Amino acid sequence: MSSQPSFPAERLPTIRRIMRPQDANIMGTIFGGTILSEIDLAAAIEAHTHHPGNVVTVAMDKIEFHKPIFVGDLVSIFTETLSIGRTSIRIRVCVWAERRGRRDTCVPVTEAQVTMVAVDEQFNPVPIDKHSTVADSPHPTGG
Ligand SMILES: CC(C)(COP(=O)(O)OP(=O)(O)OC[C@H]1O[C@@H](n2cnc3c(N)ncnc32)[C@H](O)[C@@H]1OP(=O)(O)O)[C@@H](O)C(=O)NCCC(=O)NCCS
Repeated sequence: MSSQPSFPAERLPTIRRIMRPQDANIMGTIFGGTILSEIDLAAAIEAHTHHPGNVVTVAMDKIEFHKPIFVGDLVSIFTETLSIGRTSIRIRVCVWAERRGRRDTCVPVTEAQVTMVAVDEQFNPVPIDKHSTVADSPHPTGG
């Protein structure tokens, strides 16, 4: 990342949570897999604002771990829809970490691009209705 962006305080994060000891590796930093799992979930939540049915992850691209995340950090995950295709939705995911005990220090730690596909009960792709936006999908599935 070339220039440091500023924390998007005016936006609502899709997911926000404290990192716990069980999320950490032997070095005391958070497992990449833990963050990928949260990114996947956040992308599914974003996809459900466009499609109320099942969605699955078909690709995770451009994953960059810029800085480590530590136990006790408060992680905020922001999502943004980049494009909606016939059956797929491309989502940008940005992860920020507020360092433990330092509420003024929030740094961008990870980013990724995720593509989710709307599927039916047989896991076949189905078209997305681009004109309907689902307000607040309470029970996201897939990811
Ligand atoms: C997702 C899945 C249903 C897509 O099936 P498919 O036969 O590749 O379907 P299609 O070729 O019609 O592609 C469907 C959409 O995905 C997009 N897509 C397929 N592969 C992609 C890739 N590698 N990267 C980005 N987009 C991709 C296509 O461009 C298409 O988008 P569009 O309809 O908006 O143009 C199938 O690959 C699958 O079941 N994968 C496993 C999903 C999974 O288990 N994820 C982990 C747990 S959720």
